[in-house]
Amino acid sequence: MTRPRMIETNENPERALLVVRRFPKQTRWEVEESLNELARLTESAGAVVVGSLTQDGAARSFRLYLGKGKVEELRALGRERRADVVIADDNLSPAQERDLSKALGLKVIDRRALILDIFAQRARTSEGKLQVELAQLSYLLPRLIRRWSHLERLGGGIGTRGPGETQLESDRRIIRRRILQIQGELKGVQRHRRLLRARRRGSGWPVVALVGYTNAGKTTLLNRLAGSEFRVADQLFVTLDPAARLVALPNRQSFILTDTVGFIRKLPPELIAAFGATLEELDDADVLLHVLDASHPRAPEHMQAVERLLSDLDLGDRSVVLALNKVDRVEEPRDLERLAQESGGIPLSAQTGVGLPELLAALEGALRPQVGHVTLRIPYADGPALALCYRRGRVLRREDGEGGVLLDVALPRPLLGQVAAYRV
Ligand code: GTP
Repeated sequence: MTRPRMIETNENPERALLVVRRFPKQTRWEVEESLNELARLTESAGAVVVGSLTQDGAARSFRLYLGKGKVEELRALGRERRADVVIADDNLSPAQERDLSKALGLKVIDRRALILDIFAQRARTSEGKLQVELAQLSYLLPRLIRRWSHLERLGGGIGTRGPGETQLESDRRIIRRRILQIQGELKGVQRHRRLLRARRRGSGWPVVALVGYTNAGKTTLLNRLAGSEFRVADQLFVTLDPAARLVALPNRQSFILTDTVGFIRKLPPELIAAFGATLEELDDADVLLHVLDASHPRAPEHMQAVERLLSDLDLGDRSVVLALNKVDRVEEPRDLERLAQESGGIPLSAQTGVGLPELLAALEGALRPQVGHVTLRIPYADGPALALCYRRGRVLRREDGEGGVLLDVALPRPLLGQVAAYRV
């Protein structure tokens, strides 16, 4: 079986036409918002949007998703704009996809396939990759009947990445066998992940997890915080958990920073398992760092969508630090001021670095309960205990006495047990 190509080069981006139906109860604004998001998703997948079309008054369901007149219009638009692919905002049945594609002479995919494609390009962990492939195969299975064979040119692109066209002609059994194989591999990967999580917990470092709407700037912030200024070069840690970073606060306390997949509205059901797997990591987090794109016109809604999801995941009571990101792009300072006041968030820019000291101070405050201040009398003979205090804690006061050292030290709570015998 050929391995999927995960990343396409962008020298010759695919040209996409977007179609959306407007239902009688929907406002124009709602349709436009959905279309805008579809455009952003399309660009995230590496294609360019060359046009869009709205089907009004979609009270009845058309066999081809669109009415006859619109199909004609779309075909003409496709020729005029030299489109390669049509992307529908709603879910299409396999038959609709095939028939509409035949009528247009173009590849047709829906929002679900688009999101699957984006996940396929972005999945970072081996578990994420397997989960996405599993979702793509389950999506493909009912669509296996010579999906694009009526098109002359195949040329790859959206909807063909991952377990794509090469398998379409082959036996469904191959796909079913691969699904079983992935399910087996997943079990192994999950076992490994549980081990990593247990080790991470055992390490005693507090965990901060990035959450946020897709495109908010989580990864940029992670890289910025883990960049040379703040990075803690800890070889041991890198081998413990390659997917996370260790970051140091000004008070020298370190914490583990982990990234998650961006939240998204209308998540395809096929992907909820893949999504859930990355979100499971949030259980371990002491603090959630919620990144919001404050320059987005719908920022308050994105914030609510994320908060709702967190409360659905029973994480509503976790302590949260809110980062109002991309302030360098905000055009109306008064809107930002209001948002900052209402939400208590910290204005910053992951790109320029503005506001990062304030963010670190807020994280310091949020993490303080994770640290315990103790006074210890450690005998000189116990070198390892003394080393632990210096390596992992913050020594506030030291007095050298006969036979031992008196220390005031702030230590991560999970490590307090290791020095409990020396408390005074
Ligand atoms: P997902 O992986 O989709 O969840 O996205 P993400 O939240 O990890 O966002 P990412 O870090 O990939 O950033 C998305 C886009 O926003 C990129 O093009 C970044 O360059 C841009 N970006 C991030 N932070 C800033 C910022 O502070 N200012 C500006 N102007 N752009 C930013």
